[in-house]
Amino acid sequence: MSSHPSSHPSSDPISQARSKKSLFVRTYGCQMNVYDSERMTESLAPLGYEPASSPDGADMILLNTCHIREKASEKVFSELGRLRQIKDAQETEGQRTVIAVAGCVAQAEGAEIQRRAPYVDIVLGPQTYHRLPEMVARATRAAGAVLDTEFPVESKFDHLTAARKVEGCSAFLTVQEGCDKFCTFCVVPYTRGAEVSRPVEDLTAEARTLVAKGAVELTLLGQNVNAYHGMGPDGGEWGLAKLIGALADVPGIERIRFTTSHPLDMDDALIAAHRDIPQLMPYLHLPVQAGSDRILKAMNRKHTADDYRRVIDKLRDARPDLALSGDFIVGFPGETERDFEDTLRLVRDVEYAQAYSFKYSPRPGTPASMAHSHVDEAVKSERLAALQDLLNRQQVAFNRSKVGTVQPVLFDRAGKRDGQLVGRSPFMQAVHADAPERLIGRVVDVRIEEAHPNSLAGTVVTDVVDGVPRSEGRPPNRPEGNMPERVVA
Ligand code: SAH
Ligand code: SF4
Ligand code: F3S
Repeated sequence: MSSHPSSHPSSDPISQARSKKSLFVRTYGCQMNVYDSERMTESLAPLGYEPASSPDGADMILLNTCHIREKASEKVFSELGRLRQIKDAQETEGQRTVIAVAGCVAQAEGAEIQRRAPYVDIVLGPQTYHRLPEMVARATRAAGAVLDTEFPVESKFDHLTAARKVEGCSAFLTVQEGCDKFCTFCVVPYTRGAEVSRPVEDLTAEARTLVAKGAVELTLLGQNVNAYHGMGPDGGEWGLAKLIGALADVPGIERIRFTTSHPLDMDDALIAAHRDIPQLMPYLHLPVQAGSDRILKAMNRKHTADDYRRVIDKLRDARPDLALSGDFIVGFPGETERDFEDTLRLVRDVEYAQAYSFKYSPRPGTPASMAHSHVDEAVKSERLAALQDLLNRQQVAFNRSKVGTVQPVLFDRAGKRDGQLVGRSPFMQAVHADAPERLIGRVVDVRIEEAHPNSLAGTVVTDVVDGVPRSEGRPPNRPEGNMPERVVA
């Protein structure tokens, strides 16, 4: 079952717009969900919906869900239980509450949601977000749930990016969606569908809009972002390196990052981009999942641990100060103590600046969930603790290595203390410093004085360069290049 836009004039969502209504959005999962939640919120503005900070009293509640691990999707059902109480209470007072569930749980378990939570009005998968206003208009008119988890031919991006807003100076830009890799543990190829890349010209246009609205940093998003293969302005197929080059030429873009990458798609052009494109920040999230070749094969990762080491070596040849981040799964079916030791060895070899690690979670419908050799929960917990202990020590060491250096920090928000700002170093570390609010959105040199496990602290360096006090920060649209400062010890 699916909803299709009807041509009847009264179904025009805009004509349904009445007085102001409030919309509460809760987002789970990855940055692509954050991006999608922003776009969905913007798409409902013409219907009169304004963002609310609490589900209590909201006219509409939207959950944008994640299916990646069991805990993530179970959270959705417990949250729906709480929302039902809010909906019931509001209904007794004569107020209608529309509940919508979007995202990867909606895609994977749409029918289950309708069965377990029949009070949910709208269930929509990630490919049909552009139809949300229409679905909301229908749900507010008629009783009965609306479900749309198709993979339609038209692109949601054509409909959803026109009214983009930018909060702060850093913006997400989805360049690619979906995944064709089919790692045996992962739901993403099923929930997000096949790899699709957006055309280069659409992306440079969106980037220019973002700059005009205050963005100086872009984070390019994709479930498999370095598999990007979009149509270039020349009609040819462009890879991610070429796209980054084009985005770096958009005036006002000072920093570019991208996530998440697969080691197999880390081609020479993208490695060279880390050397040649100054706006490309020296931080790379490159998940390897495991260090044992036997387990990597069972995961269908299609590379060995040494292949990964070689990619890291090439990257570090191109950009010696590159900070690396990764994802790890412990307790994949059949993982022995020896396999796990291989993971620890790989982590010691690579030395990560930061990383995420998870216990393997069997996901319905994935090949690995059908295995017979599941690892004991207690063993998974032990391995996770050992791995996280090693990764945490590496993170602390990396943060400490920056003490005494001067880092260009892009301040993006006020800190907790009065007079304090928080920003990011080139290596994605949070940096706190006392600085006036007008420096938000500026890249400012900060001498790093303290290292904590999850952040750095320092002092704004106030020397004068080219007649401009450094404490003023560089204006975002500096015409003469956007060279990030190199580290000076
Ligand atoms: N596209 C990205 C990441 C997708 S999901 C990539 O290819 O790396 C983010 C992370 O969740 C994965 O890198 C993996 O470490 C973890 N993950 C995915 N499925 C999982 C599962 N079934 N159990 C535990 N962790 C999982
Ligand atoms: Fe999932 Fe693997 Fe695709 Fe990443 S590459 S999204 S882990 S299937
Ligand atoms: Fe989760 Fe879907 Fe992202 S499963 S991690 S929200 S792609």
